[in-house]
Amino acid sequence: MQPLTLMPLPYPEGALAPVTTAQTLALHHGAHHAGYVKKTNELVGADLAKYESLEQLIEHAAQSREDVFDNAGQVWNHDFFWQSMKPAGHGARGPHGAFAEAIERDCGSLEKLLADALARGEKHFGSGWVWIVMNGGKVSAATTANGRPAFVDGLYPLLVCDLWEHAYYLDHQNRRRAFLEGFFAQLANWEFAQRRYEAHEAPRSRAPRGRSVSRRPG
Ligand SMILES: [Fe+2]
Repeated sequence: MQPLTLMPLPYPEGALAPVTTAQTLALHHGAHHAGYVKKTNELVGADLAKYESLEQLIEHAAQSREDVFDNAGQVWNHDFFWQSMKPAGHGARGPHGAFAEAIERDCGSLEKLLADALARGEKHFGSGWVWIVMNGGKVSAATTANGRPAFVDGLYPLLVCDLWEHAYYLDHQNRRRAFLEGFFAQLANWEFAQRRYEAHEAPRSRAPRGRSVSRRPG
């Protein structure tokens, strides 16, 4: 693997206002995310060539290098987070087809899934991430602490929101719930989640016994 590079934002810095302002996004992407990329490259150095993917590096570091795991995990999580949002007011189409049916089957309704995600995100202690995931073939909400990507726990991420204070403090101060409500009401990119769900389900229908594996964002 080549040295990691900072994934460009898929939209202008001001496009997520007012839930996330340009000032927050500039710092979040240009300082925090860029810092995790730089630190990972510094920590791993020439050994990056030993890994085929960021996921492989993270899985390996989970067993052996806490500092690499923290920073590389944060690179992956932020790559996934930018893709989990769409500019406010652009109204990403909600879950539909088999994905919508799976949400109803597993969670009762989309509203119940979002209420669960919001509650988990709000009460999560300290820094971390709140995810919509596939867990053993079922749609559910989950949180992870610090820089831990959900795929490390065998979960398949569909969508994520950042719970670190750097994600919301400038805009919402200590009101994490207000940020989460804004995320789910205005920014959540369900078209991205839908593509992830469909990618997850496609191999299953071809090979029902096949093992579910983690995949890179996108
Ligand atoms: Fe962050």
